[in-house]
Amino acid sequence: MKLSECNIGFAITGSFCTFDKIKSQIKVLVDKGANVIPIFSSNVQSLDTRFGTAKAFVEEVKEITNNEGICTIPQAEPIGPNKLLDVLVIAPCTGNTIAKLSNGITDTPVLMAAKAHLRNNRPLVIAVSSNDALGVNFQNIGKLMIMKNIYFVPFGQDNYKTKPNSMVARLPLIPETIESAMNGIQLQPILL
Ligand SMILES: Cc1cc2nc3c(=O)[nH]c(=O)nc-3n(C[C@H](O)[C@H](O)[C@H](O)COP(=O)(O)O)c2cc1C
Repeated sequence: MKLSECNIGFAITGSFCTFDKIKSQIKVLVDKGANVIPIFSSNVQSLDTRFGTAKAFVEEVKEITNNEGICTIPQAEPIGPNKLLDVLVIAPCTGNTIAKLSNGITDTPVLMAAKAHLRNNRPLVIAVSSNDALGVNFQNIGKLMIMKNIYFVPFGQDNYKTKPNSMVARLPLIPETIESAMNGIQLQPILL
């Protein structure tokens, strides 16, 4: 399946410092002709940070995708029964969302979307972005890595000197990881 024929759920969680780079990757997918449906975590919709206001970011993503997106748990639930997505991407994926996902917690629109989508036996792509990826969350990343239908955007340490536990996905590899995951293959090398 080509990206231009895909319905891609693009779920965004609160790694606010990556938002500019994420918008660029969403644009790449839209330019390739994909139908991109944004899904926002509750914190992304409500927290204003030094990287900008929640409202401005959500509006901008809606504009780029030309899609109102999914903002609530009830809006995310039909992804399961109606098989709305060919692939779901969580990018950036926080340590918080990784911890919850790996433990079966479903208390945000993003986590509901993931649960609903995985029940359809379809690919979920995760782009890690967390200061504690090599800390307490390392075990949770490991749990997800061995789960069926879960793929990772290749990732690595971003600043081992000042943030030794931090890891981030190489965001420009998002489109390639999606294409690979749609064919049931993890893009390699996974650690960069
Ligand atoms: C300015 C700012 C930047 C943050 N950056 C990150 C980050 O890069 N990675 C991360 O895992 N959490 C980060 N956090 C913490 C998350 O936003 C927080 O854990 C939140 O509960 C995540 O919720 P969500 O996963 O449902 O979006 C940041 C918080 C703030 C205020």
